[in-house]
Amino acid sequence: MHIVFAASECVPFAKTGGLADVVGALPREVAKLGHDVTVYLPLYARVRPFLEGEPKYAARSITIPFRYYNRFIGIVDGGKRDGVQFYFVDCPELFDRPELYGPAGGEYSDNAERFGLFCRAVLEAAKLLEVPEVFHVHDWQAALIPVYLRTVYAADPVFHGTAVMLTIHNAAYQGKFPPQTTEQLLFPWDIFTMDRMEQYDRFNFLKGGIVFSDMLTTVSRRYAEEIQTSEFGEQLEGVLRNRSADLCGILNGVDYARWDPSVDKNLAAHYTPGNLAGKKTCRADLLHAFGLESIEDATPVIGIVSRFATQKGFDILSRIADDLVRRDVAVTVLGSGEPIYENFFREWAFRHPDKVAVRIGYDEALSHKIEAGADVFLMPSRYEPCGLNQIYSLKYGTVPIVRATGGLDDTIEEWDAGKQTGTGFKFYGYDPQALLTEIDQALKVFEDKAAWERLMRNGMAQNYDWAEPAREYVKAYEEAARRRA
Ligand code: ADP
Ligand code: GLC
Repeated sequence: MHIVFAASECVPFAKTGGLADVVGALPREVAKLGHDVTVYLPLYARVRPFLEGEPKYAARSITIPFRYYNRFIGIVDGGKRDGVQFYFVDCPELFDRPELYGPAGGEYSDNAERFGLFCRAVLEAAKLLEVPEVFHVHDWQAALIPVYLRTVYAADPVFHGTAVMLTIHNAAYQGKFPPQTTEQLLFPWDIFTMDRMEQYDRFNFLKGGIVFSDMLTTVSRRYAEEIQTSEFGEQLEGVLRNRSADLCGILNGVDYARWDPSVDKNLAAHYTPGNLAGKKTCRADLLHAFGLESIEDATPVIGIVSRFATQKGFDILSRIADDLVRRDVAVTVLGSGEPIYENFFREWAFRHPDKVAVRIGYDEALSHKIEAGADVFLMPSRYEPCGLNQIYSLKYGTVPIVRATGGLDDTIEEWDAGKQTGTGFKFYGYDPQALLTEIDQALKVFEDKAAWERLMRNGMAQNYDWAEPAREYVKAYEEAARRRA
């Protein structure tokens, strides 16, 4: 089969979150199973350094029409990497900018045009270069591909047999724009209805993708159920329930070439379940990086690496922050995002410089150092479609404390002291006190060195590589293609 991936992020080219990790790894795994895989990405400013020498154009000038003007895009051939063909959509006036989506967590005002153009460009490029059996599109930024395919391009004979599958990595990000977007992107007004694109008088990219795709997936089984409820559906629960028969959860895998403490190039030392000595060195290195050298060996170090978004649960953390630092703990935090959380963490560190240290920003190497050097990894998310850091933590022997939601619930098994089973700690209610109680429980187990080591090893023994999820995706592609036929 030939599968075309379309997404707004992909490691190593452009990343703001887990979407990039998934799009950086899954295509390669699908290719390993013997399929042809192509990935399309926008040519952002930060992608340019990856192009060696002069850009090589697979197509020079493709016309993308808008209501009152045309744009002319190129398709840059990014070559094959690990068996996967990369193409970059070149439209400097829309993509040659410092950020992917907007300055400091904000949105560029022309994002509807940027990602509308991206979707149409992928279809036009596929017509010129090769029409796949399946388009696999990710999140709202690529969600207009199914909409174009089944409306504006519905009569195009080359796409008659082409199936399309949408993966929802996060239902809260929908791409909502004014109604006029319908005609700006040259869609017929008859799709701007409640059962299609319209959602509370907004043109909703993700909703369109949900309505017009042949199959839908999301990134854990639990989240596939959750998004069909009003608590997690972000007002799309109705349309998701309508498509329930076509929606399944496939848990993300991990790229262990990048996230494994026995080979990770970002670490001060390597370690394995058989020899944990290197983890001590990583811990010292982490404490040094955060200026917390005075922390004693017996003090557990809590790590956080995250986008600072409401989703991630830092409002409940902020309410127990003072209680927490009365315990014997150290906290190292890396992240950036909404000012309210950046300020909370800054202030917390300012008030407790001997225990809490925070780095505001995006830092790939430091994120690996925290995974390796911390004893405990904290993810108190309000909701979490999959979550990758808790799965990375398992491999690094860094015990996760998570809220039992979405992929966090699917991947972490509660520690059972009697049976010596389990991989971490889970709390249920979205409640500061429940979080603190769970942290206390973890801190108590930490004092028992033998139990803690067992817990670490249980986690390190877990395997979440991409082999199995890739096979599930291939089955889903085959199913989508069958339905189309
Ligand atoms: P989400 O996609 O919702 O942000 P995930 O847990 O799926 O959550 O993935 C987050 C990814 O982004 C992980 O690879 C994590 O290490 C990375 N990440 C998040 N914030 C930062 C940061 N400030 N610096 C470096 N990496 C980060
Ligand atoms: C989203 C979700 C996260 C998931 C990631 C990759 O960003 O917030 O939970 O792991 O996508 O699928």
